[in-house]
Amino acid sequence: MASSISISLFLVCLSIAVCFGQQESYPMWKVFCSGRPLYRGRLDSIVTPGSPAGHVHKVMGGSHFSAGVKGQSPQELFDVTKSADCTTCSIHTVDNSNYWHPELYYQWPNGTFSVVPDGGLTVYYIARTGEAGGPQYNNPNWQPFPKGLRMIAGDPWRRTYNKSDNTHNAVSFVCLTDFGMPNAPETNGFQTDKYFCKNGFRMQVFFPMCWDGINLDSPNHRSHMAYPSQYNTGDCPASHPVRIPGLFFEAFYAIDKFPHGTGRQPFVLANGDPTGYGFHGDFVNGWDVDVVKNMLSDKSCLASNTNLGNNPERCLPIQNFVKKSIDSDCELAKAIPLTENIGMVEPVSRLPGCNPILYSNPVVCSEGSEPRSMNNSGTFHLLSKRTGRYVTFNPITEIVYANAPAINPSYRETWGLGWAGRDLGRTIRSTELNRHFTMQDTLRVRGPEPDTWEIFEIEKQANSDYVAIKNRRHNKYLQVEPDFTITGTATIITDACLFRLVTPDGGHVPQGLTMSDVTNLQGLSSNLGKK
Ligand SMILES: *[C@@H]1O[C@H](CO)[C@@H](O)[C@H](O)[C@H]1NC(C)=O
Ligand SMILES: *[C@@H]1O[C@H](CO)[C@@H](O)[C@H](O)[C@H]1NC(C)=O
Ligand SMILES: *[C@@H]1O[C@H](CO)[C@@H](O)[C@H](O)[C@H]1NC(C)=O
Repeated sequence: MASSISISLFLVCLSIAVCFGQQESYPMWKVFCSGRPLYRGRLDSIVTPGSPAGHVHKVMGGSHFSAGVKGQSPQELFDVTKSADCTTCSIHTVDNSNYWHPELYYQWPNGTFSVVPDGGLTVYYIARTGEAGGPQYNNPNWQPFPKGLRMIAGDPWRRTYNKSDNTHNAVSFVCLTDFGMPNAPETNGFQTDKYFCKNGFRMQVFFPMCWDGINLDSPNHRSHMAYPSQYNTGDCPASHPVRIPGLFFEAFYAIDKFPHGTGRQPFVLANGDPTGYGFHGDFVNGWDVDVVKNMLSDKSCLASNTNLGNNPERCLPIQNFVKKSIDSDCELAKAIPLTENIGMVEPVSRLPGCNPILYSNPVVCSEGSEPRSMNNSGTFHLLSKRTGRYVTFNPITEIVYANAPAINPSYRETWGLGWAGRDLGRTIRSTELNRHFTMQDTLRVRGPEPDTWEIFEIEKQANSDYVAIKNRRHNKYLQVEPDFTITGTATIITDACLFRLVTPDGGHVPQGLTMSDVTNLQGLSSNLGKK
């Protein structure tokens, strides 16, 4: 018995290069989701509830997935998700969670795109302990997913890889080459230019397994969660002390029908990413809390008994809920009409939504707007004349303040311009968090739901380095208040309404530039670049 376990562990390490190096005394089970997704299209009930998502997703799991409802609380979404009638994944009744990730496209030599068909999703649940010998090893104190928990792992805007960053390391890819062919290494970006994946291609992402114990979601849908000291194991930080089972997605695609592996990298994620670094996964909890609680304490659910999760039926609390075969007739409870050609039946000339293929600096724009690239030189800091401080915001309250000291670059929020619909005008967005200026009582940042963006015009002031920022909806100017918040009711421009746009290298926007005159972001970039 012992030797067969170590052999299977060895095989797991070899075949998926995700070495489960700890002894197998931790709970582990897998959920297998059918290659036929529950839904494929531009919806996302976490990021853009009630409105179209930025890019096409492939959604698995419980039949109550929907566009979501704006303003719906995590608990309300949980109640809906949990009450689904069926799931396209392998554990019925007690798991109605929804799992999704961006769809994979193939770009034909003539530039058009097709959805790469088939491929299922395997969701691993692995409740790892902390560092060997440490307090979180002996007493990991695993908790079930709280009702309403939802989260995103990975970042659609990422186009680079930083090996010191756990959030980057959490994303990886495996090309399963033909037997006898050179083995493709597991990499953090696409490798389909170099290798031919005869036996399939896997896009993988680990979710963070440390919860702050309070918030079911957070403005960026990530910061209520944290990775342990390593991206897939280790101690949880004091800020996020509650260990929950770690999720790991393996999205499988049989890509051997599409030519690749000879230098050209022909695959692209639905978010316009040809690098793979922008792969991400979304999870909306739909588990029965008591069942997960039992799984975390019942010895039958340990990895050593479930065959590293491959035999979840051996885990007694879910024994009666593991399906013999996946429901091929589980459908969305409320059908969502297909409103756009997403490249399933015939190729599309561009990726649905506004997702130009960019190896760097993805631009923010909404459906119908013209995709344009914005270079780094197009981003700026906003310096208030009244306070002499930079404009930044509190990601929790969303309130924007002109109070950041100039000396610490990390306090200075970098802003850029985004498009708010075709020809409507531009929004100002945070380039760090991809969120947009909007007015309530004070200036806030919201996003990325297009319907919350507002249009701001940046007006150069005559004979000065300063600009005023006008809210087009109210036709009034932004003004910095004594408490550093920014209101949008000024009719007369005073110093409180003046800002200087400072480029990241410290340069000022040149004299004579009338921002409201520039016709596109390229123009803005080049004007900002010149000093
Ligand atoms: C592009 O190539 C694909 C695949 O060969 C083909 O189906 C499609 O019709 C072509 N589209 C155009 C516009 O040439
Ligand atoms: C890489 O990630 C580390 C850890 O988050 C961070 O300190 C460092 O600044 C990052 N490097 C770059 C170039 O972004
Ligand atoms: C932006 O960057 C691209 C690629 O490096 C370059 O070709 C283009 O000229 C740049 N545009 C501006 C306005 O600087």
